[in-house]
Amino acid sequence: MKKMLVTGGAGFIGSNFVHYTLKNRPEYEITVVDKLTYAGNSANLETVLDKIEFVTGDICDRGLVDKLVGETDIVVHFAAESHNDNSLRDPWPFINTNIIGTYNILEAVRAYGTRLHHISTDEVFGDLELDDPNRFTEETAYNPSSPYSSSKAASDHLVRAWIRSFGIQATISNCSNNYGPYQHIEKFIPRQITNILSGIKPKLYGTGEQVRDWIHVDDHNSAVHLILDKGRLGDTYIIGADNDHVNNKMVIELICELMGKGKDWYEHVNDRPGHDMRYAMDSRKLKHELGWQPEFTDTESGMKNGLQQTIDWYTNNRDWWQADKDTVESAYAKQGQ
Ligand code: NAD
Ligand code: DAU
Repeated sequence: MKKMLVTGGAGFIGSNFVHYTLKNRPEYEITVVDKLTYAGNSANLETVLDKIEFVTGDICDRGLVDKLVGETDIVVHFAAESHNDNSLRDPWPFINTNIIGTYNILEAVRAYGTRLHHISTDEVFGDLELDDPNRFTEETAYNPSSPYSSSKAASDHLVRAWIRSFGIQATISNCSNNYGPYQHIEKFIPRQITNILSGIKPKLYGTGEQVRDWIHVDDHNSAVHLILDKGRLGDTYIIGADNDHVNNKMVIELICELMGKGKDWYEHVNDRPGHDMRYAMDSRKLKHELGWQPEFTDTESGMKNGLQQTIDWYTNNRDWWQADKDTVESAYAKQGQ
């Protein structure tokens, strides 16, 4: 058995990663450390709590991080403040968790010689113009736009510096927008699905021309496992599922259609300040060198199958999101969103 520490394992991607690992990779013995912020939910792991160790704790607590890293073989680092809109309201938690928290992890893996995989985002590269045919690669220069993306960029730079200066055994992945079960309803896709389930019209920021290169969370996590298995130490891998032809308006229309509403049963609301226009990921390195393929996206169905599975999950798990709905919507309403 190999011991794996998953930071942020009660959040959206982290909890899906824990489920994916238990199902597909039983050789790992998992410990989750999670602060259980508003975005973390121990209910995400309810069905597997007897199969993992769960520690409620903060990655900004250096002593706790040292202790947990000292007891493990591999760290997969998901914990972060993750929502752009919140980072515009209050940047501090993003600076603290995403930068100081990552620094604590780095110092601990350096001390113990522990393998680290750092989870990051395409947003560190900034955005592309709508008509720019280029995609982000592992060599694209960093150019983040928001307090969130700049704090993630800072964390990536720290990891790269610890690799180069101290020779830590680490890899980094930068992934595009994820969707799937257990995603907090502040985020675009679950917000619109739960709006429709609540009789509220979906809300599209600005014109909705913005492009996000959507990927199902299980495809992200299968890529992370491949990198853990076969990735070259010190390297960065881009993860994306070739959905960079789909804009926000198309996603909202597809959700409306799949949920039995008219295609245009949504409303335009205030745009996000500094809104990134287009993300597009070139994941050829991951595909060619490690043999990765996404399962939820194909040229025929696009995002349809993954979206339908996600709609079904929110429809069948109303108890999971209902209590947060009013709070989330009243925070958005204050911003005209
Ligand atoms: P999330 O907000 O759903 O989950 C984050 C988790 O981290 C929560 O469980 C929260 O309680 C925990 N956490 C926050 N601060 C903590 C702290 N100080 N100590 C311990 N735990 C803490 O986020 P997510 O969407 O699952 O994102 C996970 C990671 O993936 C992040 O690093 C994010 O930058 C990255 N990422 C996300 C996406 C996406 O589309 N959601 C895409 C690419 C990369
Ligand atoms: O690209 C990866 C990033 O994707 C991750 O690093 C972040 O953690 C994750 O939150 C996500 O960031 P975005 O800002 O792209 O995701 P969000 O779900 O907030 O918004 C997706 C797009 O939809 C964006 O263009 C804004 C728009 N939007 C969002 C909401 C909440 C709307 O049009 N209406 C909405 O109600």
